[in-house]
Amino acid sequence: MVRKVTKAVFPVAGLGTRFLPATKSIPKEIMTLVDRPLIQYAIDEARAAGIEEFIFVTSRGKGALEDYFDHSHELENTLHKAGKNDLLELLRQTNMDSGAIAYVRQHKAMGLGHAVWCARRLIGDEPFAVVLTDDVVMGEPPCLQQMIEAHAETGGSMVATMEVPLDKTKSYGVLDIEEDMGAIVKVRGMVEKPKENPPSNLAVIGRYILAPTVMENLNKLKQGAGGEIQLTDAIADEIEEGRDVFGLRFRGQRYDCGSKAGFLQATVAFGLERDDLREEFAEYLHDVLAMRKAAE
Ligand code: UTP
Repeated sequence: MVRKVTKAVFPVAGLGTRFLPATKSIPKEIMTLVDRPLIQYAIDEARAAGIEEFIFVTSRGKGALEDYFDHSHELENTLHKAGKNDLLELLRQTNMDSGAIAYVRQHKAMGLGHAVWCARRLIGDEPFAVVLTDDVVMGEPPCLQQMIEAHAETGGSMVATMEVPLDKTKSYGVLDIEEDMGAIVKVRGMVEKPKENPPSNLAVIGRYILAPTVMENLNKLKQGAGGEIQLTDAIADEIEEGRDVFGLRFRGQRYDCGSKAGFLQATVAFGLERDDLREEFAEYLHDVLAMRKAAE
């Protein structure tokens, strides 16, 4: 029987240089998409998927992120007294149970693989999820839930994957496919950002379910590595050692909120999803495009 996934690692220790100067003082994960920080989208997705333990790999300067999860009793009291129950409810939905969140520190930004490895003692001998907050996925059921349901059938490790144009594969980890079973593919290998001859057009995005042996692989990589430690390499090592790795073509739209263009696209998409904003926002977008066209 496949063991239930109840722990998720959120690596949030990166420098966020693509959002300088904002990230000089604001952690990237606190930046807001419409009215909620990126981290809230990730947490909500993980909660919907049945995750119970949330492990954040943080670094220097991420205090605002840690504070975000504290209950705001003063604010809650004020809203209660003012009878603003809708806002109170909104706030309460963000509260996390005491002890559900743990923070470990990555002392130096040595790559995603290294960040995940920093959580090894809290993961122990269980399969676990990794969620990159930069990748916001609009989908129903949420992406991680789709993965956990698929993983309950397959076991092994699993990455979320989506088709991209071949000329864009150089920006992603790309899957080499052994067997295509439709929504699920069995993976033969993974290549990080191939400069040429990508093995497929299936790109890996920031959602993973990993066997605990991936931590052992990271351990070995750490001993041999000089530069960044790649998570992709540790997953590829699973295949080398004869363990299963699968890709799931998730249903939904992924936005790369780690890039400026992706963040703007997500802002438009999530803005248009909102009942309270759609009409006004759509009208504005329509007018802007019409004005641009007229000026051309
Ligand atoms: P990115 O490649 O987006 O790097 O990391 P970054 O530092 O966040 O951003 P840029 O490229 O400088 O703008 C992908 C994810 O891995 C985490 C990041 O926080 C992000 O969630 N990460 C990356 C770490 O936690 N530690 C690292 O050493 C590197």
